[in-house]
Amino acid sequence: MPGFELFGDLERKEVKEVTDTGVLMRYGFEGMRNGHWKASAMEAALCERMQVKHAQLVSSGTAALTIALASAGVGAGDEVILPTFTFVASFESILALGAVPILVDIDDTLTLDPIAVERAIGDRTKVIMPVHMCGSMANLNALRALCETHGLLLVEDACQAIGGSYAGKPLGSFGDLGCFSFDYVKTITCGEGGAVISNNQQYHLNADHYSDHGHDHVGNDRGAEGHPFLGYNYRISELNAAVGLAQLRRLDEFLELQKRNYTILRNALQTIPGLKFRSVPEGGIENYSFLSFFLPTEEKAALTQKELTKEGVDGCFYWYDNNWHYYRKWEHLTQLKTLGKVPIEVKEQLPDYSKADFSRSDHWLGRNISCLIKLTWTRKETIERSETMVRVIKKLL
Ligand SMILES: Cc1ncc(COP(=O)(O)O)c(C=O)c1O
Repeated sequence: MPGFELFGDLERKEVKEVTDTGVLMRYGFEGMRNGHWKASAMEAALCERMQVKHAQLVSSGTAALTIALASAGVGAGDEVILPTFTFVASFESILALGAVPILVDIDDTLTLDPIAVERAIGDRTKVIMPVHMCGSMANLNALRALCETHGLLLVEDACQAIGGSYAGKPLGSFGDLGCFSFDYVKTITCGEGGAVISNNQQYHLNADHYSDHGHDHVGNDRGAEGHPFLGYNYRISELNAAVGLAQLRRLDEFLELQKRNYTILRNALQTIPGLKFRSVPEGGIENYSFLSFFLPTEEKAALTQKELTKEGVDGCFYWYDNNWHYYRKWEHLTQLKTLGKVPIEVKEQLPDYSKADFSRSDHWLGRNISCLIKLTWTRKETIERSETMVRVIKKLL
């Protein structure tokens, strides 16, 4: 999945234009920057590629999630529904605002189960946050319908799924707000970076101000700019944006390689009786960053992952046992281990996750293996890998 594999001259050229001027900040210094505005250029390119009116480039995907929620007015005590299978950044961003993460079961899409989401909606629910893990999405039409019925916002965490689409729209552009990560191991990278996209001008203005200490960016004297509300510093640097700009221009090239390698593996694994693939909702197209499948039992899945690694098939994850991506190992969340005091709303409203029943999530994730797709594999290497995978899986099935 990572664009860093193909970091090259195009990225170096963009970075050199920044280092030649020495203007590393995205705002101001107009006279010195020789016309180079890499963050703004990447925002314009993102708007075009994602078919949205607004994009705000920021320092990380975690920042993007926090800013997206803040820009829509999410705050203390508001509840945000998110899946049990995600990266910890999802609940970190919610907690950063004093809002409350409400974990909900996944289904065979490996993302939010709309039936479980409906059951979790309450008086304080403000947002449904599907997380497009490993390159694919939930049934977004069903989630959108729930949002409309209950007056909620749909905020897409598309950090792992840039380039996928749903109902003809790029992932991230389907909801009220969408978030991307451009950290070092994402499909395209800035080194570190992220973005919030939307079609809502007010959310965009809020995101623009919030991510830069509340600066309203009116005029060209930073010291004289207004501060309509409190913000933080989630700015991206021009150096990071320069890398991302070059990578974004290459996104479709990367996706094509991912799709080719994914298809070789999938076609081979499809011949194995009893092996099931993650389901992709109708109208959805993955970004092909991972190939995810289910073994018949938890034991077989754990064993198969170990055996694949032993046989040299790297990058196949058994997320069920992972400390960062599945609720089972999030005792720092469930026991609210924080450095300082926790907002009272979080303390009072956070469900007692030690008693929660996420057996539906266990059912799917306990049997799942997700194998990442690399861009630099040749066709021959990918075929060889697929043959090894088929041999190992068949032996253990
Ligand atoms: C699903 C998901 N959301 C959010 C993030 C956070 O992105 P970042 O590392 O840029 O903060 C990640 C990063 O791995 C992710 O996988």
